[in-house]
Amino acid sequence: MIKKKYAIIGKPLSHSLSPTLHNFWFQKYKIAANYSLIEIELNKIEDIIKKIKNKELQGINVTVPYKQAVIPFLDVVENEAKETQSVNTINLNYEGKVVGNNTDVYGFEQGFINKLNASSIEENKVLILGAGGVSPSVIYALARKRIKQIFISNRTLRKAEDIKKKFPFIEIIEWEDVDAKIENIDMIINTTSLGLKGGANFKQEFHKTKSNLVYCDVIYNPTETMMIKKFKKNKIQTHNGLEMFMYQAQKSFYLWNAIKPEINKEIEKTIMMKL
Ligand code: ATR
Repeated sequence: MIKKKYAIIGKPLSHSLSPTLHNFWFQKYKIAANYSLIEIELNKIEDIIKKIKNKELQGINVTVPYKQAVIPFLDVVENEAKETQSVNTINLNYEGKVVGNNTDVYGFEQGFINKLNASSIEENKVLILGAGGVSPSVIYALARKRIKQIFISNRTLRKAEDIKKKFPFIEIIEWEDVDAKIENIDMIINTTSLGLKGGANFKQEFHKTKSNLVYCDVIYNPTETMMIKKFKKNKIQTHNGLEMFMYQAQKSFYLWNAIKPEINKEIEKTIMMKL
């Protein structure tokens, strides 16, 4: 039997657990398909999209740093992908058009927002750390929840300013001012790569935070970043990125197979064993 082919493109990719997740579900739902890693340079994006057009590949996920770079090669950019200018799921539709979707927004909503036990969330002052590939999806999801005050801070100011052009309602806090302004913040969302396994960590101290602060880290490897450990010690509510990761994959799987795969302890255990 010919197996359908799916993959994730990005660079670097070695850390990605998307193959583990999708191959587990392909097996569970008896779909003859295989999901692999395709680490590529920017100039190879067009070739990969052509493979979708000619059905050599049935679908791809896109991760850093190409979520925006793929857009010029697509025939259609759907809903949240259009709003955020960030695409992480691509496939061919029934009209033979290459379509880009964004499932990070859904992942963030299901994996974080809906799990928080924060009261009257619209009133929260939320600080997003980082202005990289996933930040627009986080901002869009927060705005859809009608959160009134969204702040962003990024080491490279220009990138925060670029995001503000897309979402003029956000306010910028300069990277050096984060510690001075942290005491008013109700929720922090780390979308930077600071805290990743083997990587650098924050230089900020985050000393004067509210006692009912909620800290969310988009990182899931390690499951407890330095920041999560530090905040947990101070009895602050923390969340890692594992649920967001699983929910964005769930929606990608649904877009490709019209099956909503179950997220349960079994799949969580399978992922955890790989970390
Ligand atoms: P990209 O920026 O290529 O989309 P990303 O992984 O989505 O990649 O984003 C990386 C994020 O982590 C960025 O916000 C980046 O900040 P810069 O825009 O200043 O590069 C942030 N980041 C990575 N390493 C960092 C470090 N050592 N200190 C502070 N921020 C860092």
